[in-house]
Amino acid sequence: MKIFIDTANIEEIKAVKDLGIVKGVTTNPSLIAKEGRKLEEVIKEIVSLIDGPISAEVNEGSIDEMEKQAIALSKIDPNIVIKVPMTLDGIALVSRLAKRKIKTNVTLVFSVPQALMACEAGATYISPFMGRVDDFGESGADLIEDIMTMIVNYGYETEVIAASIRNTAHVKEASLRGADIATIPYKVLMQMVKHPLTDKGLEIFANASKK
Ligand code: G3P
Repeated sequence: MKIFIDTANIEEIKAVKDLGIVKGVTTNPSLIAKEGRKLEEVIKEIVSLIDGPISAEVNEGSIDEMEKQAIALSKIDPNIVIKVPMTLDGIALVSRLAKRKIKTNVTLVFSVPQALMACEAGATYISPFMGRVDDFGESGADLIEDIMTMIVNYGYETEVIAASIRNTAHVKEASLRGADIATIPYKVLMQMVKHPLTDKGLEIFANASKK
């Protein structure tokens, strides 16, 4: 499973860059707002740091307005992926962008029928939100597995990005249920390396080497 980082924070991206395991970046309006910076400015900086898919979300508006913004964003770099909300207008926009060979990531996906619509429209990626599905009282892991089954049944090329990852258990489930990618917040990425038995083992070896 490929690992993306879910952030618009440049320091976090710089901090993980040298690990060599982060193959892409996803942002959303909340993450951009948290930084207090302009979308285009942040995206240009991210593009200079990570050579992989970088998702930038269009603002809600008419299909024509969103298409205009999507075209402008896609001109920043070939790695730009246009993040589009899972709405009727969003699906129409994905169809238009697919014809223009502009990559898309359909976000706020919470069901198999939604995922099916996005795949049929020609989405490059879809982002089911594991954490928010769990919050809703259903299973985010089951959703990933069901969407993967649907994609395999019909041979869609759309890749699944497990999103709204809140903890390492979500990472584990995303990988076991077959997600193509997990987009992971910095805090969870840092937790992934840790295990109490690794710490204990390091301590034992360090003590042994002193003898
Ligand atoms: O990848 C989507 C993510 O940023 C949303 O996460 O924790 O707000 O559900 P969360």
